[in-house]
Amino acid sequence: MTDNPKIPTIVVVLGATGDLTAQKITPALWNLYRSGSLPRMFRVVGFARRPFPDRDFAQMAAANLLKRLRPTEAEEAERFLGLFSYSQGFFERRADYLRLKKRLDEIDEGWGMCSNKLFYLAVPPRLYPDILNHLASTGLGRPCGGPDEGWTRIIVEKPFGSDLQSAKDLDVLLGELFAEDQIYRIDHYLAKEMLQNILAFRFSNDLFEPGWNRSGISEIRIRLWESLGVEGRGGFYDGVGALRDVGQNHLLQMLALTAMARPRSFSSRDVRAARQAFIESLVPFKPKEIRTGTIRGQYDGYRGIKGVASDSATETYFRVEARSSDPPWKGVKFVLESGKRLGRSLKEIEIVSRGGADRRNSLVFHVEPKEGITIKFWAKKPGRGMELQERKLGFKFRPASKAHPAEDYEKLLWDCLTDDQTLFVSSGEIQAMWRFIDPIIDGWQKGLAPLLRYKPDSSSITKAGGAAK
Ligand code: BG6
Repeated sequence: MTDNPKIPTIVVVLGATGDLTAQKITPALWNLYRSGSLPRMFRVVGFARRPFPDRDFAQMAAANLLKRLRPTEAEEAERFLGLFSYSQGFFERRADYLRLKKRLDEIDEGWGMCSNKLFYLAVPPRLYPDILNHLASTGLGRPCGGPDEGWTRIIVEKPFGSDLQSAKDLDVLLGELFAEDQIYRIDHYLAKEMLQNILAFRFSNDLFEPGWNRSGISEIRIRLWESLGVEGRGGFYDGVGALRDVGQNHLLQMLALTAMARPRSFSSRDVRAARQAFIESLVPFKPKEIRTGTIRGQYDGYRGIKGVASDSATETYFRVEARSSDPPWKGVKFVLESGKRLGRSLKEIEIVSRGGADRRNSLVFHVEPKEGITIKFWAKKPGRGMELQERKLGFKFRPASKAHPAEDYEKLLWDCLTDDQTLFVSSGEIQAMWRFIDPIIDGWQKGLAPLLRYKPDSSSITKAGGAAK
């Protein structure tokens, strides 16, 4: 179902003075505004602790955007900033939510309509209970109109819990206030163009699909290598680690898109169900497999970062070899690898054919920094003999200059406004992902795999981990 995107709408950003607003939410809203996709009656209301006049809040929320605008866009940007206002409040204080409600009611009265309300939780998860309870008790979360007007929805950012149990607890809390179809859980990787392209490629080209299983594929390698470290986010990261930060979500979602069965249809329900079914098929690690099937590492100097414990055992790198119990994937190795300060930034999915060890083909989905697909194959070398050489067929998705900043968030916000959950993660997927991840974390905490050290900005650990590059 797609909603009419023209109904008056207020986006309420809770935690609006944080990085996410300036980096992603405001630039994404600007893209929607410029393309005429937002309703004519539209407002953004920020809610956070620090006091700000409306105008200062708007300037802060748009700080990143304003830096890169052209002079010809100044007037339009001014009108856009006029849509922003601010309601100061403490997350734990009910009276402040009542003030926020009054502000929203006033906007509705000005429009003479009951508007849609989208609540965006841009806050650390420890604040969720207070916020959700207050949204419920003040009636803010209740739709104000009939079935066709004035919906309320909520966007929740990862992390969704820190293990299976806490994810379930969060679901209970969310479920008291919102129905599952009102809850939009963001994994921004799902909105990346090249990841959406995997489904297009797999299910629209019948040349590849018949061998897209154990008969044609021996390994799927997923890499999310980052050159940046966690400087500036030490306090958050040290309690999380690489596997929870990107493994439990982005890497497993990349794998699910690559290996899920053809969905019954491309409706959001069926696509999400297909992703979930594949994730549920991943075989959880037994304690004795942790040492052989996983590697964890930490870069030298990590412990000196502000907010990081001086004896921290948090991993900044991991490599996990997963297996699926799904018959089409029996025996296929899924290698998930990610790390900080790895010397280069590379996000890609490599699919390696079965073939003989020295005659394999591979197909790579390049997610970033390049966007495209490469197929490596064998061809005859020019000349009299019958010697073979490896060659490449490449496809470039678009010129780099055509990617919009914050386009992933633009897509996600648009989908939320128009009620399309396909690119959002269901509660079932979240739980399935934790079911696979929890035993690994548990094994690491028991010391079943050593914590390796690696030199920042070098590829030493990826080589040790056996990566192909
Ligand atoms: C976030 C993680 O979810 O994803 C970060 O918290 C990570 O640690 C980021 O750097 C990677 O996203 P992207 O879009 O930059 O590849």
